[in-house]
Amino acid sequence: MKVNDVTTLSVEGRIGVITVNSPPVNALSNAVRQGVAHAFEAAIADDAVGAVLVICEGRTFFAGADISEFGKPQWEPSLRDLQKLLENSPKPVIAAIHGTALGGGLELALVAHYRIAVPSAKCGLPEVKLGLLPGAGGTQRLPRVVGVAKALEMVTSGEPVSAKAALAMGLVDELAAEGNLRADALAFATRVLDENRPLVKVRDKTDKLEEARANPAIFDDFRRANAKRFRGFLAPEYNIRCIEATLSDLPFDEALKYERSLFDQLMADSQSAAQRHVFFAERQAAKVDVPADTAILPVSRVGVIGAGTMGGGIAMNFANVGIPVTLVETTQEALDRGLGIIRKNYETTAAKGKMKAEDVDTRMSLIHGTLALEDLAQVDLVIEAVFEQLDVKQDIFRRLDAIAKPGAMLATNTSYLDIDDIAGVTGRPEYVLGLHFFSPANVMKLLEVVRTKDTLPAVYATAMKLAKTIGKIGVLCGNGFGFVGNRILAARNAQADALALEGATPWAVDKVLYDFGFAMGHFQMRDLVGLDVGWNRAATASANVREILNEMGRHGQKTRGGYYDYDEKRNATPSPIAMEVIEGFAAKQGITRREISDEEIHDRILFAMVNEGAKILDEGIAARASDVDIVWITGYGWPKYRGGPMFWADLQGLPVVLEKLRALAAAHGAGFAPSPLIERLVAAGKGFNA
Ligand code: 3HC
Repeated sequence: MKVNDVTTLSVEGRIGVITVNSPPVNALSNAVRQGVAHAFEAAIADDAVGAVLVICEGRTFFAGADISEFGKPQWEPSLRDLQKLLENSPKPVIAAIHGTALGGGLELALVAHYRIAVPSAKCGLPEVKLGLLPGAGGTQRLPRVVGVAKALEMVTSGEPVSAKAALAMGLVDELAAEGNLRADALAFATRVLDENRPLVKVRDKTDKLEEARANPAIFDDFRRANAKRFRGFLAPEYNIRCIEATLSDLPFDEALKYERSLFDQLMADSQSAAQRHVFFAERQAAKVDVPADTAILPVSRVGVIGAGTMGGGIAMNFANVGIPVTLVETTQEALDRGLGIIRKNYETTAAKGKMKAEDVDTRMSLIHGTLALEDLAQVDLVIEAVFEQLDVKQDIFRRLDAIAKPGAMLATNTSYLDIDDIAGVTGRPEYVLGLHFFSPANVMKLLEVVRTKDTLPAVYATAMKLAKTIGKIGVLCGNGFGFVGNRILAARNAQADALALEGATPWAVDKVLYDFGFAMGHFQMRDLVGLDVGWNRAATASANVREILNEMGRHGQKTRGGYYDYDEKRNATPSPIAMEVIEGFAAKQGITRREISDEEIHDRILFAMVNEGAKILDEGIAARASDVDIVWITGYGWPKYRGGPMFWADLQGLPVVLEKLRALAAAHGAGFAPSPLIERLVAAGKGFNA
């Protein structure tokens, strides 16, 4: 029987089967909730039905509340009303889980009396990743099933557990055979009836809470242990408070109300809006505007030139997903060193239990080292990762063009160079692109895919697809200085350096950035990376504070001195020597140092970044404001709960941003002149993202 467009009810034996099919992920939309409720009522009214099975078609069990309907009118029944129906059912309700039972989906399964899952299924409460908490009883029911300690970890990390782990914890009652969920779930439901099993309500269980009751310090210990991970985020703390409530005197329904009130507070906060923006922005970034008939090119073998830190990390990405890599170096010594570092990286990962020990050799066997560029004749994609110098890269591309097979894609990992200048030395500029990885390239999620004016849509569409294959978030960028990420970084660096000369201390600048939510400030970052990275002594002698520090041998953490001084444990203290250098250099430049407020530091740095982002958008270097946000969140540590520079600007209100920029331009020069895009958006009453 068709109940509505997304729900059917059938009676098989004595089991009423409610089947939901609402692509892509069976989110609990208005239509789904209504369909399930109507089907359930029909099943209860049918005397032939002894038990009710809830199962989904397509790739997954309910993946949660429908995030796209947040803030829009909600139809009856609410998820909580639907839960009440199922939980109070006079007939046993069984949830049959495949794919991912997430958020509201798992919360719905938790009001079923029994749960069965296929081994590949995963169960989790990922709301924290959206700046929320499980608002449909998840914080109250999960600890009653898995215990407080495990529940704390699950709700604050948002990470799901496997079906096998779920079985061990009691989160599911039985595993079905893979691919046989429907039949096994029907058999299980029939057994529940035959054995007259009770209508188990998770809300009535308390035994799993006892361990935490005996250890009330568990919550504060957890907060302390995770303080760094949670810094700045509201949602983890709210999740913890809700779980704490499971041990309070509150009756269950009152605890649900408490959970609801904290959920509503989070939902109304800008952090959740930012994190939901990031969720959709990530998925949006993957969509590239290419002609419908654009064919994706096959990539079955990749070549990487340069076995340094970058090249080695890039090669690992492909070996990790089973794509063979030819890794080219110029000397045996450099090649051996590069391969040795890759092996060591894999061994460290295996030692941490994050990969199987036997996989180390498998992955290494996929990386073939060579000294001959000619060995790249048969690869489908070459990624060059050598020294950042135009003539060196051009020379390689000239040679590559003669060696690589027709139709092979040639990519450069340059961070700043003009890719047209590189493509121009080849006879196939339409197959040349930028693939800008971030260090460490095997870890960092961001991949800027840079197209030039000539790059074929098939080439960049293939690269975007490949990004997903290797677990990266690809963002398509145009070919302009620093692309998206480094261009905004240059704007930030310029302000930070200028502020330090004009009178702010490096530590004051760093603190403002840290308090905003970055993991570290500009100067701390420089010390960490090394002041000498990219240092060309001859070209820039004593041209700025950084050069002078380099000339003094102060290269940052590794020499125990840069802007800060470091002890043997790399604890930092502000360096009086660096301060002297800054003051001396400022005097030489004729700059009279003055008191600079934190507010000025904040505004100059952040609004300069926003303005640069606007220019990037206006020039078409980024296709969408949300792409700029994704670059800065995934590649540069912009705090997720602030949604990226463009989202943050929208939150301030673009008229405010425009006014700030005008005031900054009047006080600090034309560099702050607002991007024409901001002027136009303000005139049209719009923001970057809407
Ligand atoms: N609501 C609305 N749309 C959703 C959605 C959801 N909960 N989950 C995924 N989608 C959409 C995505 O936006 C995407 O749309 P698009 O194709 O138009 O871009 C599409 O479904 C497919 O998603 P993915 O590309 O992410 O597909 P994957 O197969 O890689 O991953 C997934 C599937 C694991 C389900 C992943 O989408 C995911 O993690 N979704 C979010 C789950 C979540 O956070 N649930 C909790 C929601 S909040 C809640 O339940 C509140 C409650 O406690 C009251």
